[in-house]
Amino acid sequence: MTETSETNDTRPAVTMIGLGEMGTALATAFLDGGHPTTVWNRTPGKADALVSKGAHLAETVRDAVAASPLLVVNLKGNTAAREVLASAGDALAGKAVVNLTDGTSAEVTAVAEWTAGQGAHYLHGQIMTIAPGIGHPDAVVFYGGDKTVYDRFQSTLQLLSGRASLIADDPRAPVLYGMAVHGTMWGTLNGFLHAAALLRNEGIEVSRFLEDATPSVSALLSFLPSIADTVDRGDHAVEYGALKHHLPSIEDLFHESQARGVDAELPAYTLALVARAIDQGHANDNYSRLIDHYTNP
Ligand SMILES: NC(=O)c1ccc[n+]([C@@H]2O[C@H](COP(=O)([O-])OP(=O)(O)OC[C@H]3O[C@@H](n4cnc5c(N)ncnc54)[C@H](OP(=O)(O)O)[C@@H]3O)[C@@H](O)[C@H]2O)c1
Repeated sequence: MTETSETNDTRPAVTMIGLGEMGTALATAFLDGGHPTTVWNRTPGKADALVSKGAHLAETVRDAVAASPLLVVNLKGNTAAREVLASAGDALAGKAVVNLTDGTSAEVTAVAEWTAGQGAHYLHGQIMTIAPGIGHPDAVVFYGGDKTVYDRFQSTLQLLSGRASLIADDPRAPVLYGMAVHGTMWGTLNGFLHAAALLRNEGIEVSRFLEDATPSVSALLSFLPSIADTVDRGDHAVEYGALKHHLPSIEDLFHESQARGVDAELPAYTLALVARAIDQGHANDNYSRLIDHYTNP
């Protein structure tokens, strides 16, 4: 199969490898954006709807890779991504590979180095939305890796998310960004759900609480830039709101949880971290001082 050209207009041909829930959404965005789109999936039947919209279904990975200068990969796991790409053989040389498969930074390094070893250009992307969010102007995808790939295909990648950005030339950076967002999300959600259990124990509706407490809760996000700044500078001195002032409130939360039979593990954990930092002489420091614990547990 010959490579579809980039000639008839400015929209390059795209090959989408992987048609799960997310891959189907990505392929749809390329088709809707007017790109000649070739697709491949281990289970070819999943391509039926895309083919009826104008996609070309490649029979082999090699054919799929040969069809376009831009290969977008979205599979379950980077081991699968590497194995599937490997089945294209030497057809990979010279191609731009944008891998949108989630994984750890070590997995990304392995697939990025292997891909570069095949003579292809590698860009990794971390998708920060669910499948229905693909194509939304506020959807975020973080990219890292080969800048020439990002620059050449920027307008194509923009079809997937209005907020696409190249954050580094290191392909591991996007996955760390993704984990940092998710880690912040889970920490916040765990704290909120613990609080919700406490409120429900008293018969208070959680949504009613949120209506009344939204100014306090939403102010939390505005703390993050100053926490980030002190962590970056390594200077945790603070005039107000030092750890010694957090301690009594955390003790109250812990004892209240225990007394009501609400799981006290989360406040106990927070209490242990703050008490230890104070014992180590950091009573007058910003909460950001706990970065020491996370860095050297
Ligand atoms: N779904 C979301 O909303 C979402 C959001 C953000 C990120 N992501 C990420 O996007 C990636 C795909 O997720 P998904 O939700 O689309 O998963 P999915 O619906 O389970 O689809 C998985 C895809 O991987 C293929 N696959 C799995 N193992 C394979 C193997 N050994 N060889 C060849 N193909 C294989 C499947 O092929 P078959 O069809 O043949 O099984 C299918 O195309 C993941 O990294 C996920 O974390 C997804």
